[in-house]
Amino acid sequence: MSVFINEKVITLHTKNTTYQMAVNENDYLAHLYYGARLDDSVALTRGKVGYHTLLPLAYDGKNRELSPAVCPLEYSAYGCGDFRTTPLKVRFADGSSVCDLRFESAKAVENKPTLRGLPALHDQNAKSQSVEVCLKDKVHNLRVYLLYTAFEECDVIAKSVRIENNTGGTVVLESVLSTALDNYESDYDYISFVGKPHFERTFSRVALEDVKLVTESRRGSSSHQANPFVIFCEKNATETMGECFGSAFVYSGNFTASFEKTPIGTSRFVMGINPENFAFTLENGESFQAPEVIHTYSNQGLGQLTHNYHNVIRKHLFRGKYANADRPILINNWEATYFNFNAEKLLAIAKEAQKIGADTFVLDDGWFKGRNGDGSSLGDWFVDEEKLGCKLNELIKNINALGMKFGLWFEPECISENSDLYRAHPEWVISAPGRTGMLGRKQWVLDMSNKAVVDAVFGMMSNILDNNNIEYVKWDFNRYLTDVYSTALSANQQGEVMHRYVLGVYDLLERINTRYPNILIEGCASGGGRFDCGMLYYSPQYWASDSTDPMNRLNIQYGTSFCYPVISVGAHVTASPNHVTRRVTSIKTRSNVAMAGTYGFELDLTTLTEDEIAELANETKFYKSHRELIRTGDYYRLTGNTERYMAWQFVAEDKKSALAVMVQRISHIDYKPHILKLRGLDKNTSYRIAIDGVELEGVFTGTALMQIGVPVRTIKYEGDSTRIEITAI
Ligand code: DGJ
Repeated sequence: MSVFINEKVITLHTKNTTYQMAVNENDYLAHLYYGARLDDSVALTRGKVGYHTLLPLAYDGKNRELSPAVCPLEYSAYGCGDFRTTPLKVRFADGSSVCDLRFESAKAVENKPTLRGLPALHDQNAKSQSVEVCLKDKVHNLRVYLLYTAFEECDVIAKSVRIENNTGGTVVLESVLSTALDNYESDYDYISFVGKPHFERTFSRVALEDVKLVTESRRGSSSHQANPFVIFCEKNATETMGECFGSAFVYSGNFTASFEKTPIGTSRFVMGINPENFAFTLENGESFQAPEVIHTYSNQGLGQLTHNYHNVIRKHLFRGKYANADRPILINNWEATYFNFNAEKLLAIAKEAQKIGADTFVLDDGWFKGRNGDGSSLGDWFVDEEKLGCKLNELIKNINALGMKFGLWFEPECISENSDLYRAHPEWVISAPGRTGMLGRKQWVLDMSNKAVVDAVFGMMSNILDNNNIEYVKWDFNRYLTDVYSTALSANQQGEVMHRYVLGVYDLLERINTRYPNILIEGCASGGGRFDCGMLYYSPQYWASDSTDPMNRLNIQYGTSFCYPVISVGAHVTASPNHVTRRVTSIKTRSNVAMAGTYGFELDLTTLTEDEIAELANETKFYKSHRELIRTGDYYRLTGNTERYMAWQFVAEDKKSALAVMVQRISHIDYKPHILKLRGLDKNTSYRIAIDGVELEGVFTGTALMQIGVPVRTIKYEGDSTRIEITAI
């Protein structure tokens, strides 16, 4: 049992954590506790006994000394004395926006309900337990349902919110955030993952001062610039110690996450759909489902927090054929040819790729009608046979004859002005009346809030997918939303477009997943511009960045690793010098970094020497012998991202094998050997160590490897890398 409803105290337990709330005497739902697991009796007693003395009451006429501005609340609405960021703001039919939420009921729920039209954690792989709490504004009869689910083994609490309008009139939702997390403390650091194209998810850690810290996107997608995943933690928290709280939003559109310190020294964290340009009209009887937030807590530092996220995403967010299976090893033609290819060239690359162990050939942008540059043809999803020099089927047949699968690129949400689709349906573009609008990468965004558009794109994609043996789709999205307006919605619904857009994208993704269960979708957005838990529900891997320079990728993959499992990180070995940075790096380092991801290739293999092909073949052989460990193992960051070298480690669940990788970031002038302290091993087990395939003499206990470490002499200069295999004897 992980959910207890005891009179007015509600407790959710996971293996190592407890989340607890209680109804106070003014019927507010107060937040009591989120932290290390309390044993059941303490949890229940504390709620009953300690709570009244701990929690200030609301100033509602009964007690004039205290107000909701200081009471730790589970969820509150604008207008009734909570002056912190309130998750809910409603405008009622009478024009008022005062909404006072008080507890109405709570019930345990056995199977986790799905969230209509939205991605969310599922409990297919292990039972979860949920509780649904109902809060109500009595004056208007508006109900708010808070759903909490405990994923016991992963130490995760998922939270979401549904609003039901039974007011008898129209209600406009102006803000519906998905979670609020109040805390008695505020002496925290705030960690977020900021960026830009080629520098996605860069780790940023700042102290919470007397200002509000905000992470947000207003770009229509979760974006390169901000990621819907943040952490707050004790100031001294490290990889291995300290309290940390993580929040990941299962959503791919505009979001906000903010963390504020109150004047009395408590703090509030909120996360949800960004209220900017959001106004959702609910007629009487209608409801609104807000997306889910995945919370976790660790008192053993950031490393444990990462394990919790990796586990819950692998077990309860990924779905379908590849949720729990080795991923294909791709050769993608983008950095090899860009738009300049024909079937002959593609096949020549595929033949070399087969020699180095790739199993899937992916044809990227440029295969459809007249697409020879980025200025035309998006929306016309018909094969350009003239350019290819053959039918798509023939190319696929030849690729399949090499024993390889075939994958294809789409950018379903966008449209070029120079396209038949645009000429036929200019009204399907997101653009505001009377304005020229802002082009992005020479293209417009299709109005995915309009079902007719989703139907049309699905029809064109199905036509290709039904008639060709395609087993992988790369789903790209190369611009943000501007000039937001939909011709399919009424004037007073225009504040719904951004959210309905995301729902339309999810609808299309779901339809493709349902109809083609054998197809693996890899997400992409000008690199890793929409890498979030929402997209991972439909596409269990995501192209992390268009920067494929391994030295640059170190940072990107470091930041990405805090929340997202290694197997979700699209990463390829590409050419040297790199296409973005011109940096020259070895095949070994390019491979080592790509192996901290899905591993694959994206370069013109026909230009490589025989020795280079042989080296890549060896790298693939090594990857194949460790791919299960990399996909399913616990991932450890052994260093930060600013030291002279960066290192990481995968440890198998049974702790019988592990693999550590180390890359030199800055040349090592004094030649002192690095001592790499490993983590996660079994203290008493004896292990053999091989550094770059050369076995060290002797055997070493887990304790020695973790406390003394492994001396590594093989890397000295910027860009050198090494790998250490650890095997139990
Ligand atoms: C942006 C992606 O990130 C690239 O990998 C590639 O697919 C291009 N788009 C194609 O236009």
